[in-house]
Amino acid sequence: MTKSSAPGKIILFGEHAVVYGRPALAVPVTQVHADVDVVDASRSGIWINAPDVNLHAELNTLPSDHPIASVIHNFLFISRIASFPNLEINISSTIPVASGLGSGAAVTVALTRALSSHLKYEITDEEVNAFTYEIEKLHHGTPSGIDNTVITYAKPVYFIKRPPSPSRRGDGDEVETFRVGKPFTIVIGDTGISAPTKESVSDVRRSWLKDKDKVTEISFTARRAIEQGHWRMLGELMNENHKLLQEMTVSSPELDKLVSAAYEAGALGAKLSGGGRGGNMIALVELDSAEAVSQSLIEAGARSTIITQVTSCDHPFCMDRKTQHSHQNSFSKQEHQMDFGQRSAVWKQRHHFIFSLE
Ligand code: MEV
Repeated sequence: MTKSSAPGKIILFGEHAVVYGRPALAVPVTQVHADVDVVDASRSGIWINAPDVNLHAELNTLPSDHPIASVIHNFLFISRIASFPNLEINISSTIPVASGLGSGAAVTVALTRALSSHLKYEITDEEVNAFTYEIEKLHHGTPSGIDNTVITYAKPVYFIKRPPSPSRRGDGDEVETFRVGKPFTIVIGDTGISAPTKESVSDVRRSWLKDKDKVTEISFTARRAIEQGHWRMLGELMNENHKLLQEMTVSSPELDKLVSAAYEAGALGAKLSGGGRGGNMIALVELDSAEAVSQSLIEAGARSTIITQVTSCDHPFCMDRKTQHSHQNSFSKQEHQMDFGQRSAVWKQRHHFIFSLE
């Protein structure tokens, strides 16, 4: 049996603006995770069991654009496994769906790594990240790439999306991991309202002509505040970022109510996190007021809360993945020398269902 897990994520600063090349900060949330195990099946076919979404089906009975089926089809395609294996794939996740915690990207990352290990097709973190980004594009339109990046590497990231260039097929984004000077505590409040990120991103696009360089300053200063442990400043920056997100029309009465409740219960700052309109908000708290803030969020209508510590990275999710994926595979030298973009470009010509890379 081969197992793999991937954490959830939250965006601390810069959501939406990140789509337009502004910096954003995101961190993994290890309390919630997607878990996948793959075993050889005694029956023929690729059987998927995902009880959380009531899915028990053979791969070929699912539409090819089904979120889980599309990962498996595309993985088998890029790995060029000669004969279709017989597999049982078990998928479970504690990450709430469509709430801005990266549930889809986490399933893709965990499933890709589990298939890669089980089928002995070596895949680097960079390839997992690029593959997950292509899957995200199939389902979410024009994502920035921050979600797949923070989930793949399971580390705090400072992310700047670079414009696409013909010579760099999506692999030129600026991704830096940053140091967390002193661990800090975040309470995540879930409105319980599922809001497709694709819609809020496309609404923001219509009004994005305004000067939003304030976000650049906020994300830049927030990174320094995190590195140096200036929590009061970080809280103020969260409040400022929330105001900008309100101006972008991606907050909602429910999110604003949770943000105010957190603040009144002693949070140092609070803001919506992710696509907005529903989903989650986050509050920066002193550790000893975390429970009180969490309780206030529930009283103000949050469906659930998560209290999480943000650290540089001491969780097994962050271990060096090269040690997990040391299998050799049996492909030609020429294929080995192709990078992910080249392989996808070649294979795209032959298979119409493969990623739309542009
Ligand atoms: C979604 O988690 C964050 C957004 O900035 C969209 C994106 O970056 O793709 C709203």
